Amino acid sequence: MDKFLIRGGKPLGGTVAISGAKNASLALMPAALLAPGRYRFGNTPLLRDVVTMSRLLESMGLRITHDDHTLSVDSTTVSSHEAPYEHVKKMRASVYVLGPLVSRFGEARVSLPGGCAWGPRPVNLHIEGIRKLGADIQLEAGYIVARAKRLHGARILFDVSSVGATGNVMMAAVLANGTTLIENAAQEPEIVQLSEFLVRMGARIQGVGTGRIEIEGVDELHPADIATIPDRIETGTFLVAAALTGTKGKGVRLERCTPNHVGSIIVKLEDAGATIRTGPDWIEIEAPEQIRPVNATTAIYPGFPTDMQAQWIALMARAHGTSVITDTIYFDRFMHVPELVRLGANITVKENIATVMGVDRLVGAKVMSTDLRASASLILAGLVAEGTTEVLRVYHLDRGYEHVETKLQALGADIRREPGEEF
Ligand code: UD1
Repeated sequence: MDKFLIRGGKPLGGTVAISGAKNASLALMPAALLAPGRYRFGNTPLLRDVVTMSRLLESMGLRITHDDHTLSVDSTTVSSHEAPYEHVKKMRASVYVLGPLVSRFGEARVSLPGGCAWGPRPVNLHIEGIRKLGADIQLEAGYIVARAKRLHGARILFDVSSVGATGNVMMAAVLANGTTLIENAAQEPEIVQLSEFLVRMGARIQGVGTGRIEIEGVDELHPADIATIPDRIETGTFLVAAALTGTKGKGVRLERCTPNHVGSIIVKLEDAGATIRTGPDWIEIEAPEQIRPVNATTAIYPGFPTDMQAQWIALMARAHGTSVITDTIYFDRFMHVPELVRLGANITVKENIATVMGVDRLVGAKVMSTDLRASASLILAGLVAEGTTEVLRVYHLDRGYEHVETKLQALGADIRREPGEEF
């Protein structure tokens, strides 16, 4: 397993291009199951999770090739309606195939994802939503087994706004007979893009980007092409890297990003003292001389994303004062905290609230990451820690950040990848 060696203390400056959004790609690719034919997904990030989704779709008979960042998917032949445990255990987003499979083929067998490093992550809303559309769903030997003749429209209210459940139910409803209303639907940009893609495929969807989505089912859809939106979490992570490591007068420019998608992160960074300018598809950031403590509470979009909580804690670890960071989406998502403490951070966690007392210095050590965004926060801390930080198990990072070390090196960071120890 690879590790990163980071020698901290190098100020970052220069330009970095943001890659396509992992969570958009993972929602878009399964949509190819809805209609036979050839699809092209431009600006697809080259990431381990995208490879995992490709392998899963290939196991169902689809043919997938990529030319640089354009992913071509041929779904002319679909030979299996099953998502086996081997794939789903690697990546929970595999459950996205449930909606398209049951609506188009009337059957699906999808492994239940189980828990994850940040505690239970149920899929009850996916199941209840698709059940309401008329599918018979049983849990058999660790699998969700769904059957339906033809799904029908229904009114669905999600008790919790869920990205995955909204995407899954939308993909089920587009081919259903009649109209489906989803109340308290997710409004995340990745769901907006999925809706836009489904519309290009011939779906009839109203209320895209609002909490109330209305879908009028159609008899069939056709293939389409789309360019994946920029990754807002990668954008946020590089903004925090710049705020953490920058020196006055030496800024970082992010290109090929969507500033509107990271509004909450920009406001918080400005509160922390950073100077930020934005254009249609770029952001320039200059670090504060001294990082001000800023509280953050995660919320559904357009609130502060839970996927930025770990990186924000890394920034606040160096703030001049105390901040309180609350995660309202995932209560157990604080595995990075004990590792940041090993680097000298002063953080305590009670339930879903982290209290971060900023310190003047972090000192490099060996740390281990347990999930994707935790890894990102350890790298950020390593960039400002004195001496060398070794971040082990970076395969988590490879799931969601494309060429992170190359991008950071280009900005002036001293970071390199090495084959790590076996566990
Ligand atoms: C997606 C993102 C993930 C991000 C999360 C929240 C992808 C592939 N992943 O995950 O990076 O951290 O949104 O922004 O897009 N819930 C239920 N029952 C369900 C489904 C969800 O109770 O059936 C709860 C979850 O436990 C959580 C909340 O709803 O508390 C939101 O989760 P959800 O939006 O579904 O997250 P994912 O789609 O899994």
